[in-house]
Amino acid sequence: MYWGDSMTTGSWKKVKEGNTELEIIKDAERIYDASVFYNPKMTVNRDFTLLMLETISKKQGKPLTFVDALAGTGIRSFRILKELSSSTINKVIINDKNPKAIEIISKNALLLENKEKFEIIHSDASDLLYEIIQQRQSIDVIDIDPFGSPIKFFETSLYALKRNSGYLFATATDLQVLCGKYSDACLRIYNSYPTRLYLCHEVALRILLYNIIISAGRLGLEIKPILSYHHEHFLRIKVKIEKSKEAANSQHQQIGMLSFCSQCSYYRTFTLQETFSLSHCPICDNPLERAGPLWLGELYDKQYLLLMNEINKGMELPSEKRISRLLKLALEEIDEIPFFYNFPLVTRHSVNRGIKIQDIIEALSDAGFKASRTPFDPEGLKTDAKYEELVQIINDF
Ligand SMILES: C[S@@+](CC[C@H](N)C(=O)[O-])C[C@H]1O[C@@H](n2cnc3c(N)ncnc32)[C@H](O)[C@@H]1O
Ligand SMILES: [Zn+2]
Repeated sequence: MYWGDSMTTGSWKKVKEGNTELEIIKDAERIYDASVFYNPKMTVNRDFTLLMLETISKKQGKPLTFVDALAGTGIRSFRILKELSSSTINKVIINDKNPKAIEIISKNALLLENKEKFEIIHSDASDLLYEIIQQRQSIDVIDIDPFGSPIKFFETSLYALKRNSGYLFATATDLQVLCGKYSDACLRIYNSYPTRLYLCHEVALRILLYNIIISAGRLGLEIKPILSYHHEHFLRIKVKIEKSKEAANSQHQQIGMLSFCSQCSYYRTFTLQETFSLSHCPICDNPLERAGPLWLGELYDKQYLLLMNEINKGMELPSEKRISRLLKLALEEIDEIPFFYNFPLVTRHSVNRGIKIQDIIEALSDAGFKASRTPFDPEGLKTDAKYEELVQIINDF
């Protein structure tokens, strides 16, 4: 389907990502100023989408129906249609509200062979999702990839997936809000306090998950985080939705707050049912900072990550190496403990300065504690040891 006369004011330009070629409209000098913007920095985000779809369909033993609700140039959908097989993908719905985006998508779709495998829709994403709900369409995966915050699409997406318990993928690029530069806006949009300090990206992801969980709870749905990560200028979450009011009730017990010290890196998390009245750090008496409410549960499902890691080796994705690095860190991370210590802050006053983080991880393990690095920060150390126990191990090293 081609949408009437061309509205093109710029020239057409070819781009290639993975094994997919696409024609886009170049109507500005800088790619970031184009009226429909193809962002090569999001290749890793799209690679992860392909990998995750391959993983889900393997796990479920069936091909999937995918909704690209804010498709832009449609590059994500075209890559799915060209690079994944029919045993992985049943159908792709490609939607955008910008008529220029639809022009680009329609032109590129002319070259696709399997016309019954996709549908192009020119609509507001919310209207599309309501339509899916009304028509009781069976959708496996909804992808929300806006400029800025995905939050306004959460509840409708969850509703649209409610019947068949599917997956929601969402990107957030409003890091200035979620990472605390505009904390008033974070409170207004996400009902949560962020931080600007070293825990900011993990806090931001957990604020996003908290918002999905409260939307899901209202619909009697449980959310299972499969993969949550921060990369360069964006945050991405992929969750599975399951129908269970009981599970949703107990999931809400894992919503809580973070209190932490920016001087020495002491931190404590506490659920909304618990009281935590310390206003000053018990280690160095500095005033404690707070963030939340946020999700305190796990960020990954390691069974999925293991399978993704295997599948990644055979897919030849452009970001294969980066994905493999991120999956390795996530797989090694002790996921049941939220947040981490900033190693330079912990060792700042230690007699044993210049000590290596990896040595302390090993010393903690030898002493019977759990310990790992974290994908969020190369200077981050995760452990179930108490702050004082960690300092002791550093001093004794
Ligand atoms: C970040 S771009 C999408 C990028 C694309 N998913 C990719 O992987 O390259 C965001 C797109 O959302 C579209 N958009 C914004 N608000 C929308 C809405 N309410 N409904 C549908 N599309 C919308 C914009 O026109 C823009 O094309
Ligand atoms: Zn302190």
